[in-house]
Amino acid sequence: MISDKTKLKLKGAKKICVLTGAGISAESGIPTFRGSGGLWKNFRAEDLATPDAFRRNPSLVWEWYHWRRNICKNANPNLAHFVIAEMEKHYSSFLLVTQNVDGLHPRAGSKRLLEIHGNIFTARCLKCETIFPIEDKEYPEHLVYCPKCASLSRPHIVWFGESYDVGILEEIYSYTSNIDIVIIIGTSGQVSVPVQIALNAINRGAYSIEINPDESTISNNVDEFIKGKAGEILPSISQLLQE
Ligand code: OAD
Ligand code: ZN
Repeated sequence: MISDKTKLKLKGAKKICVLTGAGISAESGIPTFRGSGGLWKNFRAEDLATPDAFRRNPSLVWEWYHWRRNICKNANPNLAHFVIAEMEKHYSSFLLVTQNVDGLHPRAGSKRLLEIHGNIFTARCLKCETIFPIEDKEYPEHLVYCPKCASLSRPHIVWFGESYDVGILEEIYSYTSNIDIVIIIGTSGQVSVPVQIALNAINRGAYSIEINPDESTISNNVDEFIKGKAGEILPSISQLLQE
């Protein structure tokens, strides 16, 4: 299932980066975005995940995020999340870059992680930009207000058409400029920045491994495409690292 070359690379590597997308949380019961039953099949991103949508109807946007946050809160990390948290201890230099906002990586114990699309458990004040945890309670009209200045706040998520945190991107590009391996898990590769991160690492010489039951836009560029579910493939990598 995993080639001997990839096994040797995984065992010999010192500095690695793992890049994850919604697929890694699919086995935890969290819907992905583009597959069958994916969120963007049933909801329009233009109505829910853009700054304009929030200006037009903050209550609707918040209602949707409260619903999704509740799904994430009630889900548990799966084997794949735990193996990645374990890999962080195995390699002398490790970075996890996730597109997921579900908080399952930190709950599985990952520490060296950057959540490039934000985190669904936090909000950000539109006025003073304070970032704060969303409480587990009913919000009137679903709206969340800043604990510091009482202004309307928004989900702390990178929406369509918004730019990424420049500091975070710089840290990622600097780290991935000289890594031994990049492992890309559970992303369709439809969003350009994460694809650029992966391709940049590959162009800079990283050996690349992808884990996904289906091909993504990145699959043609990787050294080894491992077809399968994250929760089934990653335990065999964990086993390999312990041998
Ligand atoms: P997508 O929903 O676009 O893609 C999910 C990928 O996971 C697909 O390639 C599936 O084949 C794969 N997959 C499904 N089950 C899997 C499993 N058990 N193990 C491994 N892979 C599996 O999700 P992303 O690529 O993460 O943005 O989407 C990127 C961004 O688009 C998201 O972060 C989100 C969305 O708009 C924001 O929320 C800001
Ligand atoms: Zn404020």
